[in-house]
Amino acid sequence: MPDTYILGIESSCDETAAAVVRLGEEVVSNVVASQFATHAPYGGVVPELASREHLKAIVPVVRKALADAGQTYVSVDALAVTQGPGLAGALLVGISYAKALAFALEKPLIAVNHLEGHIHAVLLEERQKGNRELTFPVLALVVSGGHTHLYLAEQNNGSWAYRNIGRTRDDAAGEAYDKVAKLLGLGYPGGPVIDRLAPHGNPRAVKFALSQIKRADRRHGSGLPESVNGERFDFSYSGIKTAVLRYVETHSMQSSIEARRNALGGTSKPQVEDYLGLCDKPTLDLIASFQRTMVDDLISKTVAAARAYEVATIFVTGGVAANQELRQTFECEAAHEGLPVYFPSRPLSTDNAAMIAAAAYPKFLARDFAPMDFSAEAGMALH
Ligand code: KG4
Ligand code: ZN
Repeated sequence: MPDTYILGIESSCDETAAAVVRLGEEVVSNVVASQFATHAPYGGVVPELASREHLKAIVPVVRKALADAGQTYVSVDALAVTQGPGLAGALLVGISYAKALAFALEKPLIAVNHLEGHIHAVLLEERQKGNRELTFPVLALVVSGGHTHLYLAEQNNGSWAYRNIGRTRDDAAGEAYDKVAKLLGLGYPGGPVIDRLAPHGNPRAVKFALSQIKRADRRHGSGLPESVNGERFDFSYSGIKTAVLRYVETHSMQSSIEARRNALGGTSKPQVEDYLGLCDKPTLDLIASFQRTMVDDLISKTVAAARAYEVATIFVTGGVAANQELRQTFECEAAHEGLPVYFPSRPLSTDNAAMIAAAAYPKFLARDFAPMDFSAEAGMALH
């Protein structure tokens, strides 16, 4: 089979990314320009600013991905770009640029669902390691800032099919991490900071009522399609964010939070020691307890779904899959179930374009190219 190089472009949220992937199984280059610094003062992604930053970064990021790969605009075989879901204005920057390139270069253009990309991050890296023995069906937990979704993934004659069997009812897991970090004065994005601070607190110190989340599931759960005996495997994380807020109020933590927010605001690139110096024991205990509750809920629902659908393999992917405690606990729990669990490496857990180029490869082989009039789909579902 001739070597095939696909140039992937990703701009769905706050990272401008481009990558070259060979034969859907080797990351030849992977460039990610993060906008954290732009959005940090606002405690979350500002869509208008995200689009502007993508517009500034896209040309240098694509040039660097090609140069790092030893490729040129002319030498790559096809282009792939994220169509959705994501911020409409942000997606349009990547799509417009990819269309212009494809048109000028007379190369095929492939439109990729961002969520499918996250699933292919795992497949890409397993193939890269030489693991071609994955057993199906696969249950994929896509857990990021915008999504907490469970998909059954199957491959038929080279093309992939997905069935959603669980989703978040309100906030996504990464969103809960970001909101809790913001309300504790820890800055943005919250996930990586909470990940590093949680091992310094007592995860049993604060009890969060997971039963609330389960009750919410039952109320909405029955009668929906894709349920086993009326049970869906949905997630709900707005309750825990409110519970953390209540805890902060009833334990009079506001003034220490304000002091931390101000101190961190004046520190460029704070290190874990800076955060630890600004967090007392009750705060670290709260952080550890929040993380333990999130990890336990994500794992228990995924394992319950894996049992109900009798899957053979679990994938965990998306930004929150970078979390250390989630990885370790998942590995233990899945081993108990006798199920293999696969994660992408940390750089491929968060948004990147290698996963977009990898997801595009089966579509390239099937000649499933995007028409030139396709547009961004902010709320794009994965089927
Ligand atoms: O996949 P991603 O880069 O972008 C989306 O598609 O949303 O995920 C970003 C999310 C953010 O909410 C961020 O706080 C969270 O992933 N995240 C983490 C970690 N690293 C990133 N959450 C927990 N632990 C981490 N180490
Ligand atoms: Zn993502």
